[in-house]
Amino acid sequence: MAQAERPGVVVLISGRGRNLQALIEAQKNGRLDVDIRAVISNRNSAAGLVFARDAGIPTYVLKPMKNQSRAAYDLALAEMIDNHRPAVVVLAGFMRILSSGFVQRFSGKLINIHPSLLPKYRGLDTHRRVLAAGDTQHGASVHFVTEDLDAGPVVLQGSIAVATDDTVQSLSERLIHDVETRIYPQALQWIAHGRARLRNGRIEFDAQPLKAPIHENCSQPQTI
Ligand code: GRF
Repeated sequence: MAQAERPGVVVLISGRGRNLQALIEAQKNGRLDVDIRAVISNRNSAAGLVFARDAGIPTYVLKPMKNQSRAAYDLALAEMIDNHRPAVVVLAGFMRILSSGFVQRFSGKLINIHPSLLPKYRGLDTHRRVLAAGDTQHGASVHFVTEDLDAGPVVLQGSIAVATDDTVQSLSERLIHDVETRIYPQALQWIAHGRARLRNGRIEFDAQPLKAPIHENCSQPQTI
């Protein structure tokens, strides 16, 4: 398929960009057939910008201006995204709350990865909360973004066992490495190619209602 015909994707980042790097690698090794047309960061120090530039992907930094309202920033961001006509907008560690106008504008094509087995542990600090609760499983969830923070319908989850000697640091590293970078390319492939889609607030997978998120045990070798 010619590059121009592949579903277009815009990725938003704020930080290290390990998920972005996984998407770029999956694209290179043929697991992910999309055209990453732009990477946009709200911070010019985001390390992930370097991976994008090295891969030849156009990068943009849109820093919030002093006294700029959230709505005004989000409008500028939305216009920047629309210039690339993406089929999917991927949040990959984009550390800003998005306004409802932005979320509505990209409804059905805006996705995020959250470091917990949603609906458990919405919000921040998930690894510490998992350890404090004594959970034996931790995971990550790829979900469509809706106006409720971290509450949109989940397409795919991956889980790992929590080890007795795990720390916040070890757990977060393993979650990124073993789970997030494995499930995000897979979920994006499904969504970009229409296998998973949002319809009337619910997910359809291969045109059938998805009753529960697809689950991948990431302590095991990959099966999907
Ligand atoms: C990940 O833990 C992801 O779940 C969360 O932000 C972190 C981003 O890491 N949304 P990176 O920037 O992809 O390295």
